[in-house]
Amino acid sequence: MIDDSRTGRSPRAAAVLAAALGLCVLLTGGCAPEAGGVRGTPGAAGLRDPYFPKQGNGGYDVRHYALDLAYDPGTGRLDGTARITARATQDLSAFNLDLAGLTVREARVDGVPAAVNRAGNELTLRPRDELAKGADFTATVVYTGVPEPVTDPDGSAEGWLRTADGAVAVGEPDGSMGWFPGNHHPSDKAAYEIALTVPNGLTALSNGVRVSSAPVSGGRTRTVWRQSEPMASYLATVAIGRYTTSTGTALGSVPVVTAVTATDPALSAATAGLRAELPAILARQRDRFGPYPFGAAGAVVVPDGALGYALETQTRPVFPAGAFDRSTLVHEQAHQWFGNSVTPASWRDIWLNEGFATYAEWLYGEDHEGVPARTRFEEAFADDDAWAFPPAEPPAAANLFAAPVYRRGAMVLHQLRETVGDPVFDRLLRGWTAERRHANATTADFTAYAERIADRDLTALWDVWLYGRDRPPRP
Ligand code: TRP
Ligand code: ZN
Repeated sequence: MIDDSRTGRSPRAAAVLAAALGLCVLLTGGCAPEAGGVRGTPGAAGLRDPYFPKQGNGGYDVRHYALDLAYDPGTGRLDGTARITARATQDLSAFNLDLAGLTVREARVDGVPAAVNRAGNELTLRPRDELAKGADFTATVVYTGVPEPVTDPDGSAEGWLRTADGAVAVGEPDGSMGWFPGNHHPSDKAAYEIALTVPNGLTALSNGVRVSSAPVSGGRTRTVWRQSEPMASYLATVAIGRYTTSTGTALGSVPVVTAVTATDPALSAATAGLRAELPAILARQRDRFGPYPFGAAGAVVVPDGALGYALETQTRPVFPAGAFDRSTLVHEQAHQWFGNSVTPASWRDIWLNEGFATYAEWLYGEDHEGVPARTRFEEAFADDDAWAFPPAEPPAAANLFAAPVYRRGAMVLHQLRETVGDPVFDRLLRGWTAERRHANATTADFTAYAERIADRDLTALWDVWLYGRDRPPRP
C-alpha cells in the first residue's frame, strides 16, 4: 500500500492516533520507532492550488531536474530519464510526482530501487529508507511511451504536441506532467538540464544555454540545454523538428538563439526582420523593468497548428508562425520579468503575469510606436468581455487566460500609474522585479509592495479595479 497519501488513512496515521490515545500496544503491537529512527509520513498528493488542487506535491522541494529525453518523430515514442534532486521538507515515508500517461519502467531514490504506484496523474515513490526532514535526495524515474496531449480546462491542448516533423512541448497551466514527472506547481521552481536525443538532421531546442551537441548511437544527435536560474515547470519547453536557427547576443553578453520552422520555407525570410529586433526589444524592456533576469534569450517559431497560442517559455518563448508579430513578441518577452522571474504563488495570481505582460505591450506602444497607454486603456475599458469578472478572482480554471485577466489586469496597472504618477510608477515596476527576482508572489504581496513604494493607502483603487465586479464610471 503506497497510495495512502491520498486517503489520509495510513496505517501510520492510525498508529499516531492510537499513541495519542494511549492505545498503541493494543492497536499496533508496539510504539518503538522503526529501524532507522525516522518516522516519516507520506507527502501530500497536491498543494491545494485553488484552481489545480492536485498540482504539485507536499513534503519536498525540487532543486534540479536533469531530463534525458530521446524522441523518435516517426513513432512518436519518448524514452525519458528524469533525475530529480530535491530536499525533504518533512520526514517522508513516500512522496508523489505528477505524471500523466507514459509507462514508468523503474524508479530509484538515492540509487536504491523504490516502490512505485500510479493513480491518475499521481506517481507515488516509496523509498526503501525513509527520508529525514532536511535531507537532500535524488529520485530517478525511467519512463517511456507515446505522450498524449493534456487538455486544459479551457479546452486547449498542451503538453507534448506532435508536429509533422517532430514535436513541441509546453506546459501552461497543466501540460508539463504530460512529458516529465515533477512537482508541477509554479511555487516549486528549480534549475534544469534538458538533454534531447533526436535523429540526425533535426534540431532540438529547449530552455537556457546550449552546452553541447554530439552524435550518439543510432544515427542520432544528443543536444544538452541548461537553464541555471530557477524555472517553474510550466515554463519548460522542447521543440524538435526541422528548424533554421540564428545565434547572436543581446544586452552585451546574453546569448540569443532564435529558430524558425523550416516546414514552410518562406518563414525564415518572413520572420528574419522581427527576430533581428529581439535584442533591441530586450534592451528597451531592461530600461523599463530592470536587469534581464536570465543568462539566455531567444524565440522559437513553430509550425502553425502545433499549438493555439504563444507561450512565454523561459528564455525562449514559443510562437505559432501565425502569431509571431511585434506585440506578441513584446508580450512574451515581458513575461521573462513578469511571470518567469517573478512567478505567481498560485494560479489565482495569474493577472500578475498577464496583466503586466499586456501593460508591457501598452508601454511599448507608448514609448516606441506613438500610441499612448491611455488610448489602449480606453479601448480595453470599452470592451465588455474585459468586465466578465475581477482580474484577481477568476471564477474557474477555464477563465485563467480570459480577457479580464489580460485587459482588466493591464487596466489595474494603468490606474495605479495615473494615481501615483509616472516617477513612482516607474520605480515601482523596476522595484517589483528586483524585490521578487527568481521568487514567487501573490496579489497581496504586490498590493502591499505598491502601497509601500507609493507610501499611501490604495485600498479604494484595488477595490474597484482588482476586486470589483462592476465597471465603474470611466475615469
Ligand atoms: N500565457 C500565454 C500568454 O502569453 C497564453 C496561454 C498559456 C494560454 N496557456 C494558455 C492561452 C492556455 C489560452 C489557453 O498569454
Ligand atoms: Zn501572456
